[in-house]
Amino acid sequence: MSTTRFPEGFVWGVSTSAYQIEGATTEDGRGPSIWDVFPGGRNGDPACDHYRRHGDDVRLMKDLGMAAYRFSVSWPRVMPTGRGRVNGPGLDFYDRLVDELLAAGIAPYATLYHWDLPQALEDEGGWTSRDTAHRFADYARAVHDRLGDRVGTWFTINEPWVAAFLGYGAGVHAPGRRSAAEAFTAAHHMLLAHGLGLEALRSAGVGRAGIVLNLSPVLTPGQLGDLDARPSEEDAAAVARIDALNNRQFLEPVLRGRYPADLLALVERTAGLGHVHDGDLDLIGRPIDLLGVNYYTPTAVQARPGAAADPAFPGSEDVLFCSVPTAVTAMGWPIVPSGLTLLLRRLSREYPETEMMITENGADFVDVLTADGIHDVERTSFIEEHLRALRVALEEGAKVRGYLVWSLLDCVEWADGYRRKFGLVHVDLETQRRRLKDSALWYRDVIARNGLPDGRTRRPTLETVAARAGVSRATVSRVVNGEASVSAEARDAVLRAVRELGYVPNAAARSLVTRRTDTVALVLSEPRHGGDALIAAIVRYVTSMLEGAGKQITLMLADTADSRRRVIQHVEARQADGVVLLPPDDHGPLAERLARTGVPVVLLGRPAVASLVPHVDVDDAGGAAAATAHLLGRGRRRIGMVCGPTDLVAVQDRLAGHRDALREAGLRPLLALAGLDRESGAAAAGRLLSDHPELDALFATSDDLAIGALRAARDLGRRVPEDLAIAGFGDIDAASCTTPALTTVRVPVEDQALALARLMLSRLDGRHAGPVVLPARLVVRDST
Ligand code: FCB
Repeated sequence: MSTTRFPEGFVWGVSTSAYQIEGATTEDGRGPSIWDVFPGGRNGDPACDHYRRHGDDVRLMKDLGMAAYRFSVSWPRVMPTGRGRVNGPGLDFYDRLVDELLAAGIAPYATLYHWDLPQALEDEGGWTSRDTAHRFADYARAVHDRLGDRVGTWFTINEPWVAAFLGYGAGVHAPGRRSAAEAFTAAHHMLLAHGLGLEALRSAGVGRAGIVLNLSPVLTPGQLGDLDARPSEEDAAAVARIDALNNRQFLEPVLRGRYPADLLALVERTAGLGHVHDGDLDLIGRPIDLLGVNYYTPTAVQARPGAAADPAFPGSEDVLFCSVPTAVTAMGWPIVPSGLTLLLRRLSREYPETEMMITENGADFVDVLTADGIHDVERTSFIEEHLRALRVALEEGAKVRGYLVWSLLDCVEWADGYRRKFGLVHVDLETQRRRLKDSALWYRDVIARNGLPDGRTRRPTLETVAARAGVSRATVSRVVNGEASVSAEARDAVLRAVRELGYVPNAAARSLVTRRTDTVALVLSEPRHGGDALIAAIVRYVTSMLEGAGKQITLMLADTADSRRRVIQHVEARQADGVVLLPPDDHGPLAERLARTGVPVVLLGRPAVASLVPHVDVDDAGGAAAATAHLLGRGRRRIGMVCGPTDLVAVQDRLAGHRDALREAGLRPLLALAGLDRESGAAAAGRLLSDHPELDALFATSDDLAIGALRAARDLGRRVPEDLAIAGFGDIDAASCTTPALTTVRVPVEDQALALARLMLSRLDGRHAGPVVLPARLVVRDST
């Protein structure tokens, strides 16, 4: 095997799950699942509308050359109340899907449970009830009855750790319960469901079945830098405890038919052992044919007396979860490809007879869409590095039969919603248009040649150099920083790897030594619907300007308490020299918190509370006043306003500007409150126009709302601009394509980005800088 080729017959594909892509949550008799009811879920959303567009999606996979597709079957689609009656039309959908896959030459891999438990079963106790495991076996039988003649590979449960400990322990996933005892009980019942389900599949004649686990190597921070580092006894105990909870709790019962003793002690202390019945472990430990391994990132921990337990890891008191000093994905997950080698090496050593498949691996990055494509270098490089790491394990004899990328499509990322982008294929949520990202095209080549392209086209990382040279990351760092304390042999190996890989020593390497990273973190809060295009443009500009000034950019999302904490850790660990915070969320507290680390911070948008953090703002009030004055100048006197969410500072300012301009003309504002999207703009405008038919103009605080207003006006038979003038705000691309084209206020995107980049650079130079307010300019088109 050459260094870039994979074994003959190696299976390439992708994974998805039902809830994350199907949509159609009430169609054809589907019952509600816990994720439809969970407040953090996406009840009733079309998601990727895969239920209807499966034909297109299968075609996409065929064009990309996929050999296998791992999808999940939705239990509530097949059994709306989780038990009893089987819903024929629900099964028909999977029937069609499987036929299409086979016709396209793609092997269907079915996962029976990917977290969408029927709500009716949750009402009866969910996974804390033993009965749910038996109901799962009935359901498995029903699905097999229909698909078993064509589906050859079956997985029972996906990532029971996540479903049990995030769903029943930490409460951040459905069903949102927060009980350590329930989490342990749920985990056991999921394992029991695996055992019973497997038995059902076996008695129906299934030849290839297994389970999918999320496995993560657990290491101390010291070991991350140098695998040979010897942890202290306390640290080693912390590692063992988290490894028991995350990994061995599932590996040992499934592959050895027993719980590890240290884990059992934790369970007993927290939940008792009444839920573990005689015979359970025999069932759970029946042989499987394939272990699905989902790998994303390692876990770093050390002992910290007094630290409180993390609710996702009950029993983890006195353990500190540490940040990993390396590049991260937008989700904040550290990128450590060598963790995959490590994991597979361990599995091969401890369970040498077990065949494996990488059933999920992939990354969330902030993709920047351009007219000529989606150039997601980071994702390609993430996958490439992980494939190289996998290749090393294969070479050492790991029995890995295939690799499935998570995921085919940008889809619903559970409680994080649509803001996470894991897809090889971009999905426009408004039109459902699919667009291949560069990573998809690259993956197509990998599949076609059953191996990696010769020569590395991507940015190699410190990790890669370390792996190639067979030394630790710290050693690479020392060599590239010219330190003397490295043996001649190691130095030669590193320099050879640097040359072969075309590695440019970067931030991460230098930072280990110089404590200066030349990296700027670009932190995005939730790209709220409608704000996307503008923010993407700003990201693009700011990135290219700062890169032009020799800085590396790390994009991070700070949209949940958890991710905000990670951003703070990242900055506190001095992995960035500066932070640019982008709106539209209320980032006041985060900005202040980050500013206290002493790292320079600049903001886009005026913070809600008075702040010393320098920011770049647009003259929203002036822009709104100009738009209003323009309507008045066109002779309009009865002007209504479609007003976006007033918790946004920009909206407050636009409202104030509008009000001031009206007041000067002796008029008073008339508002209808709206959200951010076009539908809510249409609804608010519809209300205004029905209640006040005399209105002769509308001003909306954003173009999306104004586009909605145009639609409402048309529906009510109003002619724009003859008897109703409409103006928006923002000058998004769509504003010039409406009929009639929209008068609006241009927010100068490039100017904002330039000002932000300048502000950041002057702060990095240690210069003080005050706020910058940019003028907003009226753009008059046909709608007024
Ligand atoms: C895994 C899940 C999958 C997806 C990825 C990002 O834990 O199995 O559904 O959410 O993470």
